[in-house]
Amino acid sequence: MEKKLLLLGYMGCGKSAVGRFLAEKQGIPFVDLDAFIEKKEGLGISELFALKGEIYFRRKEREYLDELLKQDAPMVISLGGGTPCFGDTMQMLTGSGNSVVFLKASVQTLVERLEKEKEHRPLLKNLQTVDLEEFIRKHLFERNQFYMQAPHKVAVDDRSVEAIAEEVAQYLV
Ligand code: S3P
Repeated sequence: MEKKLLLLGYMGCGKSAVGRFLAEKQGIPFVDLDAFIEKKEGLGISELFALKGEIYFRRKEREYLDELLKQDAPMVISLGGGTPCFGDTMQMLTGSGNSVVFLKASVQTLVERLEKEKEHRPLLKNLQTVDLEEFIRKHLFERNQFYMQAPHKVAVDDRSVEAIAEEVAQYLV
């Protein structure tokens, strides 16, 4: 079974940008789990949340992740921010034999980025800018217990996509 590189971390930490860059550089396929779900379901993430609800989304997210992990091909997969935080998904990831890397961003970095990009994120789009930092701080605190189980952690604050991808590349096996 070909090994995969799985990128996880909070919304806005750069999973997709780093994953896409790294995969292209290494000449291996890149899959963004959110985009994969959107294609399979024929709906955008916001529409899926609005029409079918978060529980449906989480079930499908897990199902499509399984499908990707079963493919016998090398690939870089960027997960959704919540993917490892439900059910036993984090255990499944760490036990899968693939490389699992947490892209670690500070609250300040996340707030700066997500202020500009919250519209297509159903969990954030209804928050006022003044409430965003408080929300992210609490949410990240809850989710860190999952993210921190990743065997590899890479800091992303004030670093370019290229520099982050170069550090992550050492975990491609
Ligand atoms: C989510 C993160 C999103 C997307 C959905 C839910 C989350 O992915 O899966 O909006 O629960 O953190 P990104 O981390 O790629 O924004």
